[in-house]
Amino acid sequence: MLSPENNRILTEVEGDAPMGRFMRQRHWVPCARSDGLEPGGPPQAIQLIGRKYVAFRAPDGRIGIFDEACPHRGASLVLARTEDCSLRCIFHGWRFDVSGKILEIPGEAAPSPITIERESLRPYPNFEGGGLIWVFLGEGAPPPRPPLPFLDLPRDQLWITRSKAPCNWLQGVEATIDSIHVGVLHQSWMRNYQARGQTIGTSIENHPRYEVEDATWGVKAAAIRTLPDGRQYVRVTQYVLPFVSLVPGGSTRMGSMFISVPINNVSHLHFFGLWNEDGPCSADVARLYTEPRDIDNYVVLKADQPAWGQDRAAMTGGHFSGFDKALLDEDMVVQASMGPVVDRSKEHLRASDVGVVHARRKLLEELAAFELGEQAQADGKVVRPLDIVAEAGYAWRTDA
Ligand code: FES
Ligand SMILES: [Fe+2]
Repeated sequence: MLSPENNRILTEVEGDAPMGRFMRQRHWVPCARSDGLEPGGPPQAIQLIGRKYVAFRAPDGRIGIFDEACPHRGASLVLARTEDCSLRCIFHGWRFDVSGKILEIPGEAAPSPITIERESLRPYPNFEGGGLIWVFLGEGAPPPRPPLPFLDLPRDQLWITRSKAPCNWLQGVEATIDSIHVGVLHQSWMRNYQARGQTIGTSIENHPRYEVEDATWGVKAAAIRTLPDGRQYVRVTQYVLPFVSLVPGGSTRMGSMFISVPINNVSHLHFFGLWNEDGPCSADVARLYTEPRDIDNYVVLKADQPAWGQDRAAMTGGHFSGFDKALLDEDMVVQASMGPVVDRSKEHLRASDVGVVHARRKLLEELAAFELGEQAQADGKVVRPLDIVAEAGYAWRTDA
């Protein structure tokens, strides 16, 4: 359990909340799928960490990300026209280039240097990596890129969906650090997955021993299961602060990513993806995780139906959870079912929740260090999940 005060510190991001400031200042924030921002296409509204932004991609591929309000009188730039490599506000026609520089004020002479300095849009630094657009929303120099293994992969070696989840971001993060639910909530899905020749030992024996280790970038959470032949199945999920979890996918070179970014205090953007460093990501495998719906607006929850559309007939027929279309549906439904912000002071945690406990502690420690003005540490190493069958006593910490 967590004190109500610490629950508030961890979950609240809006306004001047410390967690929101920490996210903006210390982290690159994933804000959209790269493919979701079309060259020369319409600007996209982006809500992150309680604030509103606009993103657009010029025909030459460059991306501009700015505050949503036009600096003239505050009209939304989501409504703006895209003209060549610029954005034109539809209210009075002010025009800005991809760097935010003001190019034109209709009815006036060419903008003076002083107008350009005062009236231009502030451009938020961004980069594309891992099929996502990442933005830095803080002040001064951005931090190093996150230590993720898929940032430089070609597009066909990645597969990503974006959805909106109607609950606080930490519920999304915590669901991915908890290994025991895979063999419970996802047990029917696992049977199907294994029947297709995919070998994951999670449901072979669901009484793992949990071991956790902190890293400079987050937390390594190992679930260790003893197999019938005495060997150990070691599955290490890596939580990379504050948004990302890497879940093993059968080797250190492929896996799934779960990324939960606050939209505000009560909803989050959820990016789910697969990556494969050795070849293309198979659409067939991806389809096991999600249904073939709009991958840029993957609406999972049937909120208008009782129990989010749970299929009781499927359960009677042998399906465990009653959400039999895709793995992602199962995760999203249980998170949303906790309510917008779960009250962690009412929990009854068990040994299997040790990864979640460490993640909260690590977040609170990093946040406190940030508030004290301490510098972030990074060793520059890329983080990889670990998924291995090894002899008894295998020292997973040296490999993870
Ligand atoms: S509000 Fe945008 S040009 Fe006037
Ligand atoms: Fe899950």
